[in-house]
Amino acid sequence: MFQAAAKTLSLSRGASFSIRRYCFKTPAKLRVSEAVSGAHLGANVKVQGWLRSVRPQKANLFLHVNDGSALQSLQVVASSELNDPLLTLGSAVEVTGTLRKSPHQKQPVELEADQIHVVGDCNPVDFPFKKKERHSLEYIRQFPHLRCRTNAFSSLLRIRSEATTAVHSYFKENGFVQIHTPVITSNDCEGAGELFRVEPSGPENEEGEKFFSVPAFLTVSGQLHLEVMSGAFSRVYTFGPTFRAENSQSRRHLAEFYMVEAEVSFTQSLEDLTKVMEDMFRSATEHVLAHCAADVDLFHKHVTPGHRVSPQGHLLFGCIIIHYYYLNLLFFYCWGCDLQTEHEKYLVKHCGNVPVFVTDYPYDLKPFYARDNQDHPKHTAAAVDLLVPGVGELCGGSLREERLDLLRARTGLEDTYSWYLDLRRFGSVPHGGFGLGFERFLQCILGVDNIKDVIAFPRFSHSCLL
Ligand code: 4AD
Repeated sequence: MFQAAAKTLSLSRGASFSIRRYCFKTPAKLRVSEAVSGAHLGANVKVQGWLRSVRPQKANLFLHVNDGSALQSLQVVASSELNDPLLTLGSAVEVTGTLRKSPHQKQPVELEADQIHVVGDCNPVDFPFKKKERHSLEYIRQFPHLRCRTNAFSSLLRIRSEATTAVHSYFKENGFVQIHTPVITSNDCEGAGELFRVEPSGPENEEGEKFFSVPAFLTVSGQLHLEVMSGAFSRVYTFGPTFRAENSQSRRHLAEFYMVEAEVSFTQSLEDLTKVMEDMFRSATEHVLAHCAADVDLFHKHVTPGHRVSPQGHLLFGCIIIHYYYLNLLFFYCWGCDLQTEHEKYLVKHCGNVPVFVTDYPYDLKPFYARDNQDHPKHTAAAVDLLVPGVGELCGGSLREERLDLLRARTGLEDTYSWYLDLRRFGSVPHGGFGLGFERFLQCILGVDNIKDVIAFPRFSHSCLL
């Protein structure tokens, strides 16, 4: 292109001038994060995004353009001649101009505009977010189709995206193989009956015939499929949507949430699991704090300012391990009762607001797969929950019952889970795993009280918007 232009230059001055202009002056298209980085000072650039503020002054017009690439918006300075009634909060624009140093310390780079094109206007009267107002998470939740345009929710979505990367990086660095476990399944891993049934919406081919020939459901956990894989891979994980038909309006339950699940073979004790849980929790938290500092800061300063527990604090101190048995003696009323959210939060607070592992639950509280500790008369299972500040239960896991005779003794397994028993017939090894609620992880590090505010499109009973 450069050579062709140089060539043309010698043919006719006028023609060569216009070609040169085309070659050298076509503005480089930059994302806002690139524009504000300071690496392109003096460059003629084009930036596209949505207006986060419009400030007309006597001689100049000041705009803030954001394209979701960073919390920081790009300040645009234009002659007031370029002002237009269509330039309002929320409108989509394309701005060309020159990047220069700004006299303001807060905004070290600004774009001196020579052209502003309104790509899509936005009626400020109907737009639910107003200039200079800091809307609460609760308020913006009413607009699931628009809330990504607020600073708070776009920060959340960037953090969520980075936390996803952190989880995958942790497993990759630690030799885990990722398995895409199915969303549709014929098993009820947790046995709690909180299943969504999957059926075609149209009329069935023949009366009563099921699409899959067996009852099929949305998965409540990928654990059993990971257990299949752990017969060939010593470390596997999955990270995907998980579904529970819990009729709950609580601040920490969703009908559709993301679960990170890991399964480790050749385990010797619960410690093999608690180590992975703690390492992953630390590593993902550190990654988010390091890569999303500005976004996390926004949450801690302005969105959840009452959030007293710092994620740095979780990292500073190790996790505490408590046996359910002692917990029961110390705090709670009856052996065999499951911990309620209030118990979990109280316990974490009592331990100094650090993550707490509770291990060895009463056997009857845990699903069929949990390994029997054979510690009569207590009779516990080798299960562990990780409780964290502000949220309560973040992870649930266990060693799995790998002994065929003990599994067989469970009624009904021979018929419905013969394949699961096969895993114990053919090269069975001690193994275990856990699941971490990804939304609860975000709640924990950001101090967000309601789980509906840490997922793009929350699904819960009586609500499936969009
Ligand atoms: O404790 P849970 O039920 O464990 C399992 O499903 C195991 N099969 C996982 C495994 O061992 N592979 O769920 C794991 C975590 C919980 O600790 C919680 O953080 C989250 O998943 N969770 C939910 N998050 C949001 N909404 C819900 N309805 C949730 N149910 C569980």
